[in-house]
Amino acid sequence: MSALDDLKEKLKNCKGCPLCSTRTNLVFSDGNPNAQIMLIGEAPGADEDRLGVPFVGRAGQLLDEFFIKAGIDRKKDIYICNTLKCRPPGNRKPEPDEKKACAPFLKFQIDTIKPRIIILCGATALESFIKGKGITRCRGKIYKGSKGTIFVPIFHPSYLLRNHSLETGSPRDLMLKDLIMIKQLSLMDNFDNLGK
Ligand code: URA
Repeated sequence: MSALDDLKEKLKNCKGCPLCSTRTNLVFSDGNPNAQIMLIGEAPGADEDRLGVPFVGRAGQLLDEFFIKAGIDRKKDIYICNTLKCRPPGNRKPEPDEKKACAPFLKFQIDTIKPRIIILCGATALESFIKGKGITRCRGKIYKGSKGTIFVPIFHPSYLLRNHSLETGSPRDLMLKDLIMIKQLSLMDNFDNLGK
């Protein structure tokens, strides 16, 4: 069993925060643990909680459509996980204590996968890594992390579910552009000449 599988098995019995009493399933990850792109979302919703897989509900299906348009293969090119591994009731935002309790597990996923590119999908994921900046201002920008990793914030697909326009500069247009850029970044040998 891999170290990630091991952690996943252990977390099925996690009682590190109150969400253990309301979850149906732990939602650990999807995609390829050997991928160079990792996407971090917010927390499982109702469909994810039911199926134990991240981004499979309406928002996830929309994200999949964008992946396809950008040439990103969900099963092969990307490892997908969330800030929280258990669903907050009623899809409310994660509480600071819940994020704190789950943070070591996300860190373990990052340290094990060693992605070259970390996509911060939405405000909750952004806040954990880049302080004091809103998603609208920093989406599509490249932020350099340690060990050669870059962070790229993008909109959360649930925001796009409420914004249908495809016009130039609309959230959906920007999302596609960001994901196409991320695909291109994944083909680069190094990021030495990029970002802040
Ligand atoms: N929203 C998220 O942030 N993650 C999911 O897995 C589903 C919806």
